[in-house]
Amino acid sequence: MNTKTILAVALLAQATTAPLALAQPAPLPDVAAAQARAAATVGRMTADEKVVLTHGIMALPLGGDAPPLPADAVLGAGYVEGIPRLGVPALKETDASLGVGYVSGIRKDGATALPSGLAQAASWNPDLLYRGGAMIGSEARAKGFNVLLAGGVNLMRDPRNGRTFEYLSEDPLLTGVLAGAAIRGVQSNNIISTIKHFALNGQETGRKIVDARISDAAARESDLLAFQIGIEQGQPLSVMCAYNRVNGVKACDSDWLLTRVLKQSWRYKGFVMSDWGKAVPGVEAALNGLDQQSGSQLDKAVFLGDQLKQKAASDRRYAVKLDDMNTRVLTAIYAAGLDKHPASPGGKIDFAKNAAVAEEVARAGIVLLRNERSVLPLAPSAKSIAVIGGYADRGVMSGGGSSQVQGEAGPAVTIPVAVGPSGSSASQQYHRSSPLEAIKAMAPSAAITFRDGRYIADAVEQARGAEIAIVFATEWRTEGFDQPDLSLPDGQDELIAAVAEANPNTVVVLETGGPVKMPWLGKTAAVIEAWYPGARGGQAIASVLFGQTNPAGRLPITFPASEEQLPRPKLDGSDWVEPYTADDIPPSGDKLHADYDIEGADVGYRWFARQNAKPLFPFGFGLSYTRFSASGLAVKGKTAIFTVTNTGQRAGDEVAQLYLVSRAGQPTRRLVGFERVSLRPGASQKVTVTIDARLLADWKDGGWSMPAGDYGFALGRDAERLGPVVAVRLAARTWSDGAEPPRFP
Ligand code: BGC
Repeated sequence: MNTKTILAVALLAQATTAPLALAQPAPLPDVAAAQARAAATVGRMTADEKVVLTHGIMALPLGGDAPPLPADAVLGAGYVEGIPRLGVPALKETDASLGVGYVSGIRKDGATALPSGLAQAASWNPDLLYRGGAMIGSEARAKGFNVLLAGGVNLMRDPRNGRTFEYLSEDPLLTGVLAGAAIRGVQSNNIISTIKHFALNGQETGRKIVDARISDAAARESDLLAFQIGIEQGQPLSVMCAYNRVNGVKACDSDWLLTRVLKQSWRYKGFVMSDWGKAVPGVEAALNGLDQQSGSQLDKAVFLGDQLKQKAASDRRYAVKLDDMNTRVLTAIYAAGLDKHPASPGGKIDFAKNAAVAEEVARAGIVLLRNERSVLPLAPSAKSIAVIGGYADRGVMSGGGSSQVQGEAGPAVTIPVAVGPSGSSASQQYHRSSPLEAIKAMAPSAAITFRDGRYIADAVEQARGAEIAIVFATEWRTEGFDQPDLSLPDGQDELIAAVAEANPNTVVVLETGGPVKMPWLGKTAAVIEAWYPGARGGQAIASVLFGQTNPAGRLPITFPASEEQLPRPKLDGSDWVEPYTADDIPPSGDKLHADYDIEGADVGYRWFARQNAKPLFPFGFGLSYTRFSASGLAVKGKTAIFTVTNTGQRAGDEVAQLYLVSRAGQPTRRLVGFERVSLRPGASQKVTVTIDARLLADWKDGGWSMPAGDYGFALGRDAERLGPVVAVRLAARTWSDGAEPPRFP
């Protein structure tokens, strides 16, 4: 499995990167053929038919005056009517990147929950993301959905973002490559996947009004590059535009984002759907590049229905646009084969097989952050273990909001939190996969106790009497709400510190939706970050604790030591936008903006490198039960070759990381290649990485531009611990987005 990142695929988007060398990838959609068919169908459409595919409803019984749902709608996120006369099927849409959405259990069915996006990304393994995508796509199809609202790729500009768990990473290459693989997996089921939320949807606080301000260059080199790579590699047939504003304009009404960047510069041929409710300001969004209004009951009006028809009848600009909008939606429908391979509810799902995929992803994404005196892995012969906290007796935490997934029997634990805009985001939920039970199965002869951790003295007493103490700590995140800070809530820091004081063999298992601070870190023996580990999270955690899995997850996001280190120590609007009101537009909303030019393209670890700030744990960090060395780096043109060796005693995976560390005399920090390799003890593997020229370039004067000079590269165990620098002299180059990237000697 590798991430050789370049060559050319030019269908949906202008190609500068190769499809991944995935294990057995499904073919990419034949967009050119679909486009030709789509144009022919548009030629047969009546004026009424031309405004059918341009808007959809939320596929939920909303009550009140809302008309009943169409008979063929499947309860979920959305429904767009089809055109039976022309053989065009309806679109049946469900959330999201982690599995088929639970929508508060309304369908009375369950689905397999993948671990969170962060957990998936921590595997640094596109092949696994592909298989996860293929799995959730197959479940969506079996439930009758033909559109999966997956592909969340927003870069993590703020680690407090409530949706951090849904997204992949803070780096455009890692995010784009992994998202592309996941999307390709989803679409291998003859269904459409989105990529979302386009773009710069960096915080939930006031998400429908916040104005993300950023220069063209910084956006192109960061958030937009993640989308661009994801689109090239995964060819999602739809793009979901975001709620927020970008440089003063609603993202779903942004001519710059939707038309100039996406459709012109990247030559994207699929369609743009809006996010759900208050994302679309009016009918003119059609002129600016929006193709479909979603969840229209949540808006003031169906802008892209009759209003659009009337405009098209009198204004040629709208008429031309309308044909293009229909061509794009139909291109997606035909390219995915929705008409030829219709999805209908009641398909068979092999839940055991799918849970095994979820478990494999969870095991691959767990990150070992600390392991003093090699306290881990635990011996199955351990005599006594005190398990404490985190509802570990019941299950594992999951994130809230539209991406919430639950299994057949529903949540193991449901804790009401607040009355939020959507039911599922108003309660914390745990999947039915108990770490306690899995630990008992691993150490059958140990005396194992459990305390929920609400009473610290009692937990400490248990810990003191046991050989090993394992504290589970959870941090719940949800769509619609950002974390006020990065601390563990509910007094868990105090609990961990007290237990660690009482037992030197204290292991902390974190189930968090993003980075957290660890004031107790130095007192603990070991820490693992298990994220939200999905349907079989308990088993995956136990497997790492007892060494059946040698942990190889690496952080896809920097863990700051404090909020003071962030580009915005205080999250914009956090002092005056009420929590859980993400969907209500506060009065004086106009004053809410996020200045992303502070860090510009230097998101995450690049910001820390620029500021010379030391995080708690750097991007790319993760320990193993074995040791690796990487050596012999040679860079020729865009090709880097090096050797990775397992120098320890156990088989394990290493994630080799290649960074650009200087450019034309200027220090910089940028991930330019990575590869996860599996090695037996003593074994070596030669790794070849092809560097995407955009990662060496600036966006300048409407194109990519590389200064002449020495380019320094180094292998990194993470973004901080870098090996010797290998310099290559490169000439100045410029190229436009649509053109072939430059040749290197
Ligand atoms: C979210 C999207 C989701 C949509 C449909 C929105 O609130 O931002 O990610 O796909 O709802 O449920």
